[in-house]
Amino acid sequence: MDNREIDSVKKKLEKLKDQIRRADYRYYVLSDPEISDREYDLLLRKLEKIETRYPELVTETSPTQRVSGGLTKDFPPIKHNVAMLSLDKAFSFEELRVWQGRILKLLGRPEKIEYVVELKIDGVSCSLVYERGVLSLGSTRGDGSTGEDITANIKTIRSLSLKLFGSEVPERLEVRGEVFMEKKDFQVNNKKRLEAGESPFANPRNATSGSLKLLDPSMVSRRNLRCFIYSFGESKDWKFSSHKDFLDKAERWGLPLNPHNKLCSGLEEVASYCRRWQSLREKLSYEVDGVVVKVNDLALQHKLGQTLKSPRWAIAYKFPAKRATTVVKDVKIQVGRTGILTPVAVLEPVECGGAVISRATLHNFDEIERLGVYSNDTVLIERAGDVIPKIVKVMRAGPRKAEDKIKIPLKCPVCGGSVRGESEDEVYVYCLNNTGCPAQLKRAVVHFCSRPAMDIEGLGKSLAEELVEKKLVTNLGDIYRLKKEELLNLPLFADKKASNLLKSIELSKKRGLSRFVYALGIKHVGEKAARTLAERFPAIEAFFSLDRDELEEIDEIGPVMARAVVDFFSQKTVKDLVSFLKSTGMVLEEEKKETGVAANLKGKTFVFTGELLSLTRRQAKDLVEERGGVSVNSVSKNTDFVVAGEKPGSKYQKARKLNLPIIDEKAFLRITRGDNP
Ligand code: IVH
Repeated sequence: MDNREIDSVKKKLEKLKDQIRRADYRYYVLSDPEISDREYDLLLRKLEKIETRYPELVTETSPTQRVSGGLTKDFPPIKHNVAMLSLDKAFSFEELRVWQGRILKLLGRPEKIEYVVELKIDGVSCSLVYERGVLSLGSTRGDGSTGEDITANIKTIRSLSLKLFGSEVPERLEVRGEVFMEKKDFQVNNKKRLEAGESPFANPRNATSGSLKLLDPSMVSRRNLRCFIYSFGESKDWKFSSHKDFLDKAERWGLPLNPHNKLCSGLEEVASYCRRWQSLREKLSYEVDGVVVKVNDLALQHKLGQTLKSPRWAIAYKFPAKRATTVVKDVKIQVGRTGILTPVAVLEPVECGGAVISRATLHNFDEIERLGVYSNDTVLIERAGDVIPKIVKVMRAGPRKAEDKIKIPLKCPVCGGSVRGESEDEVYVYCLNNTGCPAQLKRAVVHFCSRPAMDIEGLGKSLAEELVEKKLVTNLGDIYRLKKEELLNLPLFADKKASNLLKSIELSKKRGLSRFVYALGIKHVGEKAARTLAERFPAIEAFFSLDRDELEEIDEIGPVMARAVVDFFSQKTVKDLVSFLKSTGMVLEEEKKETGVAANLKGKTFVFTGELLSLTRRQAKDLVEERGGVSVNSVSKNTDFVVAGEKPGSKYQKARKLNLPIIDEKAFLRITRGDNP
């Protein structure tokens, strides 16, 4: 390739990267996307394609480099050249006035002071260094003078540009901000943890700090962390006149700022901002615990200076905590879709952070043990990220009688069926009656009919409950046995509504295998796993003869999910359900995706070992899968090709022992193009 060609590829790459950066900014910072998800994916794919062809042109600020491969070994200490301080707190407007009085005095009573007010985000503070506009270091606060290098994890935060916008950027700039998790992501992440049998995070802040300490950046990336920048640390070659001036410049550099930052001309305005956000805080998609009030003029800030722990020019006005104490009156057991029995505390109603609370989740029976809570205890509750609050700790015991001990039920409270106690790897107790238990059946029907599953419009929660209660639906198959006369007998059902429902039930037969597998509601199997399974085993029959080892060979499937899938399909009721549904004409095969490339590797199994030079492992696997092949992690006699890169490992030895075809990277690329190896 000559220089002209290189230059033209480079130009193309820069343009693509700029477009992606801009799209990230619009989406993650401004929440106002300019292009569709599909257009975005196409841009990214185009970039990946060019970078695969020209690996030497991949730069560290490319959007493809957010998630570095491999694991972080440790987080080396980073000394902060400017200490990361904390803030003094004010718990009332009176305390704010006292603070203002103090600084006015120190400043010789100027006529007017301007303040910038910002929401105090409840997350984890971080320091970011941009060198010549490139994000080069991300670290934690630590003890304020020394933190830890978490650059690889910080780079996964999509709202943070890896490169500052514009050409006028400081030689070196250190900015500071708050990394946090949105409430919805907190819930998603906790749900995943619960499904995987892990204990949930107590609040979004803990979830954030736990995520930042993970050694695998690809896991951090999935946690969907965000960040707002709120100040600068070291900035030798760049002067700002005021805090507002810094914020304006930061905005132009594309740094993520909280959209509610505000310049105020006096303390009255500050107080009304505080009042406003105290009542609106629930509407925000992230947690805030107060308002930070900062003197705007940097010369005044300098004059005021700092104490050992905190600057004198800023203060945190704290909102009242969303905590309260109350009494546990009873514990009720809820039965979930997959049969999990969840204990829920019934509370003496109490006001907490602007809402009256009468229930708190206890998650599982381990949690009850950990808290040591009995009925009649006085407990501290907290609302954090969740709509349903949780019990933080027992404040005062009892009076406790023997029956106040919260016991694991021996029978399902809904159907009386037997329950399974905690096994080694699960902290849950399940009702074993599956869809024979009305509580599980109701939820199973709702899930089965939901939009990402079979998408049966008109069959939501209340109808599902009614159908189960009236015994019109006693298993999932009965949905397809519903008759118009039966529906017309239900309250509020007229002819049109009944026909429409039957029509959408009929339509649902064509949703395809992967949505059906998801719709079955197998424990631990979400949409993505269902898709993987259906792609790998494109006809439902295959599911009845799966074995755990075979499943575990698939990248995204671990032992817990493998067991759940095999157990599920070994039930006679499931076999009966599937054969009935097939007889109704339901499509239980997966259609092949139209990828535009030939399926020339159909049915072939590949194993990779060692390091590839021209593409990443992921890209290689994608090449195989796009062409209808399968890539698995371990070698077996069914493997068709073992691709050996640099320094191949034990899989290579095993392949030789089994006399399997071993090919190098070049031969692999030839095969994917449809040539002979
Ligand atoms: S300014 C000198 N602004 O609150 C300290 N802090 O208790 C400068 N925080 O450690 C901090 N939102 O983690 C500032 N808009 C904001 C903030 C904020 C959250 C956190 C930050 C800091 C703690 C101070």
